[in-house]
Amino acid sequence: MNISIFGLGYVGAVSLACLARDGHTVIGVDVDQAKLDLINAGMTPVVEEGMVELMQSVVASDRVRAIRDVETAIRDSAISLICVGTPSAANGSQDQGAVLRLAHQLGAALRNKMAPHVFVFRSTLVPGTVEEVIRPILEAESGQREGVDFFCAFQPEFLREGTSIRDYDKPPFTIVGCNHDFPAERLRALFGHLPCEFYRTSVRAAELVKYCCNNFHALKITFANETARLCEALGVDPFQVMDLLCRDGQLNISKAYLRPGYAFGGSCLPKDLRATLYLGKQRDIDLPMHAGILASNRHHVDHAIAKVLASGSRRVGLIGLSFKTGTDDLRESPLVTLAEQLLGKGIQLRVYDPEVHLSRLLGANRRFIDDHVPHLGELLRETLGEVADECDVLVVGLSSPGIFAALEAHVDSRHYVLDLVGLPNRAALGGRVEGLCW
Ligand SMILES: NC(=O)c1ccc[n+]([C@@H]2O[C@H](COP(=O)([O-])OP(=O)(O)OC[C@H]3O[C@@H](n4cnc5c(N)ncnc54)[C@H](O)[C@@H]3O)[C@@H](O)[C@H]2O)c1
Repeated sequence: MNISIFGLGYVGAVSLACLARDGHTVIGVDVDQAKLDLINAGMTPVVEEGMVELMQSVVASDRVRAIRDVETAIRDSAISLICVGTPSAANGSQDQGAVLRLAHQLGAALRNKMAPHVFVFRSTLVPGTVEEVIRPILEAESGQREGVDFFCAFQPEFLREGTSIRDYDKPPFTIVGCNHDFPAERLRALFGHLPCEFYRTSVRAAELVKYCCNNFHALKITFANETARLCEALGVDPFQVMDLLCRDGQLNISKAYLRPGYAFGGSCLPKDLRATLYLGKQRDIDLPMHAGILASNRHHVDHAIAKVLASGSRRVGLIGLSFKTGTDDLRESPLVTLAEQLLGKGIQLRVYDPEVHLSRLLGANRRFIDDHVPHLGELLRETLGEVADECDVLVVGLSSPGIFAALEAHVDSRHYVLDLVGLPNRAALGGRVEGLCW
């Protein structure tokens, strides 16, 4: 393919070298003349393992040239990868100056081009940028229509500096966000041979996934480092602790606990987090990330409360009360917190949980519910149908085939269903269904 690459920093230069190595003809464009001169002389503008030799060989192959002129690059290529920098502005927002200036030039360069050009944004961009900011600029400058005369796609880049050629050849996955088949097919032709899955998604989801991945990496590093600070204070080897943590492929290094849903609770996670924070406090170790977990969890409960109250109805049914499906353990259940808060707001609450029978609750479990929802007996109903009869709003906090079937049988057009669990059958329910965050 004839490819142009805009921005010859780490991402752009490595992409240029690897694409040329794979037999494509590549035009690199940058505003920095020094980078252009280096590349045209067969040298690398970035320090990366393997780049010295690779750049030398691809430039010698005559499949690479580096220029300043945007119009020439657009004319002589069918697909453009945009890899310019998107650093932080002083206030923390994304500085999009470079990519927006470039968008004006790209649009203008498109004016005289008839063949359908594909723009692939590889720079990290805040969600919404391609569709709401860049596409209008390209359309206004070119007088052409995206999706008809030219196409935009967002393909997040996952390479890491230091191992970028290896990462280019073996990315975790290829994600292409686009609204049309043509750019997806072009990108499949370009990257489909890589040894990873190829996922097509919306432009905005692709933009967001990049942030989500980087934030997750930052979270993991900080988790390991906060744990290490605690280990140091306790005289424990942090490498051993983290190594053991990683050896659990069932609950730790796995998909477990990574599905969006309602807040966590129960008799272990909140109390153990609090004890960890106290341990840190006793030894003057600040653990802000760990502290933030509980604060964030409370926000999630508040989010659910706000949605229930926003429904405007006073007749609310809670489907589920225990901290997770299949148990009657009510201790620190975030559904109990929800019930308590709604009762405090004067909501007429009804509760159904197939596992919770007041007469069978004992010990700490009984004491917890007596403290938090003392009149639970008056609120509990034997069936989901009874709750549906008495309420306009149904808050679903349990996830089981029995609950899904009962909801299908009893939800009708009167009901507003707030789904806290990610119901698999929401389309089959008669009422208006809204997810907590989906
Ligand atoms: N560096 C990484 O490991 C990495 C990994 C994944 C994604 N990203 C993202 O990719 C993007 C590029 O990152 P980078 O580290 O390669 O950036 P970089 O700062 O190394 O390079 C950016 C290049 O863009 C050039 N440029 C600026 N304005 C231009 C214009 N109008 N026309 C042409 N070129 C222009 C600059 O001169 C520079 O050479 C960023 O959005 C970054 O967040 C980076």
